[in-house]
Amino acid sequence: MTTHQAHCLILSYPVQGHINPMLQFSKRLQSKRVKITIALTKSFLKNMKELPTSISIEAISDGYDDGGFHQAGTFVAYITRFKEVGSDTLSQLIQKLANSGCPVNCIVYDPFLPWAVEVAKNFGLISAAFFTQNCAVDNIYYHVHKGVIKLPPTQNDEEVFIPGFSSTIEASDVPTFVINPEGERILEMLVNQFSNLDKVDWVLINSFYELEREVIDWMSKIYPIKTIGPTIPSMYLDKRLHDDKEYGLSIFKPMTNECLNWLNHQPISSVLYVSFGSLAIVKAEQMEELAWGLMNSNKNFLWVVRSTEESKLPKNFLEELTIEKGLVVSWCPQLQVLEHESIGCFLTHCGWNSTLEAISLGVPMVAMPQWTDQPTNAKFVKDVWEIGVRAKQDEKGIVRREVIEECIKLVMEEEKGKLIRENAKKWKEMARNVVDEGGSSDKNIEEFVSKLVKCKS
Ligand code: UDX
Repeated sequence: MTTHQAHCLILSYPVQGHINPMLQFSKRLQSKRVKITIALTKSFLKNMKELPTSISIEAISDGYDDGGFHQAGTFVAYITRFKEVGSDTLSQLIQKLANSGCPVNCIVYDPFLPWAVEVAKNFGLISAAFFTQNCAVDNIYYHVHKGVIKLPPTQNDEEVFIPGFSSTIEASDVPTFVINPEGERILEMLVNQFSNLDKVDWVLINSFYELEREVIDWMSKIYPIKTIGPTIPSMYLDKRLHDDKEYGLSIFKPMTNECLNWLNHQPISSVLYVSFGSLAIVKAEQMEELAWGLMNSNKNFLWVVRSTEESKLPKNFLEELTIEKGLVVSWCPQLQVLEHESIGCFLTHCGWNSTLEAISLGVPMVAMPQWTDQPTNAKFVKDVWEIGVRAKQDEKGIVRREVIEECIKLVMEEEKGKLIRENAKKWKEMARNVVDEGGSSDKNIEEFVSKLVKCKS
């Protein structure tokens, strides 16, 4: 039986892209003898395809137990009620766990839910904010919070100065909620992440030091920042965790055998993998351009089109698609796919998890950011880490099929793409090293655990 050194209660915002990095971080803590309980909303739990057996999961309520966010109807309604009901139900859970033989002594919370800090303070617990997104993106929201960034700009190529960045970036590289007034209420929440951040004991960032040195050094002067990523299962990196078979928590069921069997028949580095993550809603016109761009390219492809997006596929596309040329699936085991030797490039929306996964598995990218933090991630992929290209939109905001074809060619076969392909391999090596014993993220996690233990005894 394991003797636990401390007990962390993990509170995530209930979407796949937030829960999974926290789950992977939890596994790392658990391997260092920290007891973990993950609190998930009843509505999310209800839709989960399978629950992990190696980690304890408890339910709390967001006040919308039947349908979560969709039941709430608006973002403001959801967040407001989640705060009320969530605070109560999280407190009840802490009380329940107090009698479990190993009371909670720390809350690791998602700063989308900043009220968790008050709950932690009420119980005298350590609090750690866990930022799912990278430090560059967090830094931008921080400066909106401080009133330093005053947008929206008038033009997409307007230069924006952001303290902590070595050079200015263009307005089109800034997260969409900052430049797009329709995202005003969401921006409010993103900015609110910093409203009580001065009260927390730790700020954990899902990134690694070597990837964002400059901005991490800058933000560390303000907050007690520790990078703990990449939050990819250890089996793809350092392989030090034993009980690491479960990839993550999902409401989607992956078509595992179909994908992997198909990939097994493809030559090394020959396949383009295409996915836009769990949330993005792609315009019908864009879907059409993408579909024909893929079909016209001289590469075979595996494309994830979620069932809710399927109706946007152009007429005839699926009929014209042969099994030799490509496979369209509704969900796949992305990590197994990216690790597969047949994959030569990832055409991605640049959600942070997908980006970090591609970095960790050494896959170069064609970036087609859609919304939220994705344009900033794409900027770094192209210009800072030099592991991909960004497919340029036209004046209507659509990436045309010819552009898609060109980008795929550049990354997968042209001489111009050689450096990109080589850099991708270098970052893969780095990603493994940082979580391996003595690496920058490993050291940070060790330090976090040792402080937890000290506070408990
Ligand atoms: C959201 C936001 O959109 C993103 O910008 C933010 O950085 C995190 O939260 P999402 O759009 O789902 O996330 O994208 P991403 O962060 O890339 O996460 C998608 C996850 O789903 C990845 O972990 C990926 O491995 C997984 N996935 C995706 C699968 O397992 N199978 C699939 O078929 C597609």
